[in-house]
Amino acid sequence: MGITGMIYMVTMVFSLIVLILSSSAVKFDYFQFTQQYQPAVCSSNPTPCKDPPDKLFTVHGLWPSNVNGSDPKKCKTTILNPQTITNLTAQLEIIWPNVLNRKAHARFWRKQWRKHGTCGYPTIADDMHYFSTVIEMYITKKQNVSEILSKAKIKPEKKFRTRDDIVNAISQSIDYKKPKLKCKNNNQITELVEVGLCSDNNLTQFIDCPRPFPQGSPFFCPTNNIQY
Ligand SMILES: *[C@@H]1O[C@H](CO)[C@@H](O)[C@H](O)[C@H]1NC(C)=O
Ligand SMILES: *[C@@H]1O[C@H](CO)[C@@H](O)[C@H](O)[C@H]1NC(C)=O
Ligand SMILES: *[C@@H]1O[C@H](CO)[C@@H](O)[C@H](O)[C@H]1NC(C)=O
Ligand SMILES: *[C@@H]1O[C@H](CO)[C@@H](O)[C@H](O)[C@H]1NC(C)=O
Repeated sequence: MGITGMIYMVTMVFSLIVLILSSSAVKFDYFQFTQQYQPAVCSSNPTPCKDPPDKLFTVHGLWPSNVNGSDPKKCKTTILNPQTITNLTAQLEIIWPNVLNRKAHARFWRKQWRKHGTCGYPTIADDMHYFSTVIEMYITKKQNVSEILSKAKIKPEKKFRTRDDIVNAISQSIDYKKPKLKCKNNNQITELVEVGLCSDNNLTQFIDCPRPFPQGSPFFCPTNNIQY
C-alpha cells in the first residue's frame, strides 16, 4: 500500500468514527411532560404577559431528563424548519401557546425543540415527531392537566388546596404515579405554576417523577395553601 492508500485508509477510519459518534444517542432516563398554568406564569414573570392568560394548563415542553439531574440539552444543531410542522400549527397554537407573547409561538417551539427535543432520540425521531408526540399526549392520550384536575373536581377557582389533594387527583389519571409540582410565591401567596408528568424513556409507561423540588427551593410546594 502506497502513501495515498495509507492516507485514504486513515481518512476512512476517522470518518467512520466521527459518523458513529455523531449518530449515537445521548443517554437519558425518562421524559418529563411539563405543563404550565398560564395565570401563574404571567403573575410570576418579571415582565407582564402581552395578552391576558387563559385559566388553562398548556404545554411548556417534553423534556428528556436524568434521575441525577444533569439533563441533556441541545444535543443536535438541527434548527426547526417551520415548514415541517405547518400542518400541526393550528393544534400547537391551542395546546402549546407562547403565553408570554402570543405573537411569537414559533419562537417558543423552536427553543423547546433545540434545547430538549433534539435530545429525545431515538424515541423522538425528528422535529415533526417531537411536536406530533406532544399533541398526541395532550389530546389523544388525555394528559391535559386542566382536564385531569377538573375530573377530580379541582377547578381553577383561586382556592387554596393541599398538596395531597392536587397530587392525588393527578395520580389517579397517570397509573397512580407521582407528578412533579412546581410552585412559586407571589406576594405571600403560593401559586401552582407547573405540573410534570413523567414516563420512561421510550414513553411506554408512567413513572413516579424523580427529583421533587426540595424544601428550601423557591419552587417547593408546601403541604397546604397552594392556590389554584
Ligand atoms: C449521572 O451521574 C452518574 C454518576 O453520578 C454519571 O456517571 C452519569 O454520567 C450522570 N449522567 C449524566 C447524563 O450526566
Ligand atoms: C403532516 O405532514 C406530514 C408529512 O409532511 C405527515 O407525515 C403527517 O401525518 C401530517 N400530520 C397531520 C396531522 O396531518
Ligand atoms: C384541556 O382541558 C380543559 C379543561 O377541561 C379544557 O377547557 C380544554 O379545552 C382542554 N384542551 C384541549 C386542547 O383539549
Ligand atoms: C421501554 O422501557 C422500559 C424501561 O425503560 C422497558 O421495560 C420496556 O421494555 C421498554 N419498552 C419497549 C417497547 O421498548
